[in-house]
Amino acid sequence: MSKHEVILMGEIRDMPKAETDRLFESYTVHALHLCEDPEAVVEEVKERITAIVTNGVLGVKGEFMARLPKLQGVICFGAGIDNVDLEYAKANGIQVSHTPSVLNDDVANMAVALLLAISREIVEADRYVRRGDWVKKGKMGVQRGIRGKRVGVLGLGGIGRDLARKLEVFGCEIAYHNRRENPEVPYRYYPDLLTMAKDSDYLIVICPATEETRKMVNRGVIDALGPEGTLINIARGTIVDEDALVEALQEGRLGAFASDVFANEPHVPEVLFEMSNVILIPHLGSATVETRRAMGELVLKNLELFFAGKPLKTPVSL
Ligand code: 8YV
Repeated sequence: MSKHEVILMGEIRDMPKAETDRLFESYTVHALHLCEDPEAVVEEVKERITAIVTNGVLGVKGEFMARLPKLQGVICFGAGIDNVDLEYAKANGIQVSHTPSVLNDDVANMAVALLLAISREIVEADRYVRRGDWVKKGKMGVQRGIRGKRVGVLGLGGIGRDLARKLEVFGCEIAYHNRRENPEVPYRYYPDLLTMAKDSDYLIVICPATEETRKMVNRGVIDALGPEGTLINIARGTIVDEDALVEALQEGRLGAFASDVFANEPHVPEVLFEMSNVILIPHLGSATVETRRAMGELVLKNLELFFAGKPLKTPVSL
């Protein structure tokens, strides 16, 4: 039996080799990053393509989907699908899948790691030892504990709830801001982000990146968090107004910042490099062997179901 054909929008470096190999073995993959002339390949195969494989960063534009008259499925590696034109997909009956849930635990763990690392100044302490400051200056000063600290979670979805449960164990007081209150959770709900920021020691961003959440953490929110407050971003860089953030850090209006994500990855505002109250991580939230494997498996499962004409395992509700 001939293999089904799929277009792969580019290199998905985060997908483990074993699952990538299985993708190439199971399907005839037109990998655009490996084609000498991707345009010509798309022209040649466009009438036969029913599925695209991509990730949240590469996404797929409506214009591209419009070139594929038989397209019915966009299978994404990753939970965030902010670069997939969902409106186009919805309007044209194209199903979209992603890989949520399997990454919740590790992404929530990364948020906890950043929270502990920034409050206990782990990265700065490591630099202190390497610079020889321990010998030259004696012991470093004291840091801050997190028991009893007020943590505001922006986005209490799957990852947000996992994170909140983990932070309860550390004795943090959890509050959240969502579009709507969730009556099933025991945490305080703030209908207004600014008020929550004012009442928080830590603000953790873990909501989806949409037009609505773009630059939602703006100057006002950052100022409400204030010089004693810490901002942690584990979602998408676009949710924070990066210029306002840099200014606030430069002017001492925000206490500290720890982030896994940036507005223009892999580029990070270089002024942050010299700041000791800042931790910068290169988008590693889901980057464990176990989680990346589970994400790869889910991509393969969704593709298999798609070509079997069955409901996708983890569809995006459009
Ligand atoms: C991925 C992510 O590393 O799932 C997401 O939304 O941000 C990460 O898990 C990446 O987007 C997939 O390549």
